[in-house]
Amino acid sequence: MIVSGSASQSLAAALARELEEPLAAVEYDRFPDGELLAAVPDFEGDRAVVVASTVSSDAHVELLQLQDAVREAGAEEVVTVLPYMGYARQDEAFESGHPVSARATARATSTGTDRVLTVNPHEEAVCEFFEPTATAVDAAGRLAEPLPGDLAEPVFLSPDAGAIDLAETVRDAYGGGDTDYFEKTRHSGTEVEITPSDVAVGDRDVVVVDDIIATGSTMSQAVGVLEDRGVGRVFVTCVHPLLARNAATKLSRAGVESIYGTDTIERQVSSVSVAPAIADAL
Ligand code: R5P
Repeated sequence: MIVSGSASQSLAAALARELEEPLAAVEYDRFPDGELLAAVPDFEGDRAVVVASTVSSDAHVELLQLQDAVREAGAEEVVTVLPYMGYARQDEAFESGHPVSARATARATSTGTDRVLTVNPHEEAVCEFFEPTATAVDAAGRLAEPLPGDLAEPVFLSPDAGAIDLAETVRDAYGGGDTDYFEKTRHSGTEVEITPSDVAVGDRDVVVVDDIIATGSTMSQAVGVLEDRGVGRVFVTCVHPLLARNAATKLSRAGVESIYGTDTIERQVSSVSVAPAIADAL
């Protein structure tokens, strides 16, 4: 049975259709003191697949409750799918006295599950923080699906070296084009500096590919650099469209034609489903 966290209801339904498994009628409630209650009154079967992107601290608690609820209801196997793993980017102690938040949240998640799947984490090494087997599912190839078929001499760019593999995967799935990456220096949570590469972008369509758009600072800086160099159309695409605060506005003001993302985080721009990739990995 597929069991959905409240932030992953569309993806869980798509996965249930993909696997032809029933979708549990999960109930989400909140007590007067603010505490959450996520319940699975109709759970049946041996295996529970809990699908819950941990997009907020509440979503983390809800996930722990759902894991516990399905065990209470008799599930013999619990598989936890974290389409988007919150806190994954805090994968080291960046200053003395800071926590490794990815490890702390992974440990808590591990207590209620037999197996974990997560989609394109920022660093695959976060899978090692889980106690049961954790697998990173690569859904980046699907990001080529919504791109226009008539891109002019396309260039698939990543805003930093770390995302070049994603840009290459999208280029390969699209079927042609060049790839390159910019150098990025992060000055603070919202301030980044992008140093352009010397790839020729004049009058060419560019697709900027990253794993996540959070505040939109990285993408808007990258797009700004391209606009200064006479680029054709600019599309941005990412696996996790977090789009916090005014990120969508920043990108529109920078001159982006369209934003594409997957349903690991359910937003208006989530035009690609990772359900088939998760179904394959299950
Ligand atoms: C960092 O290396 C990631 O790949 C993303 O580029 C980054 O997390 C995006 O964050 P923001 O949208 O806040 O710049």
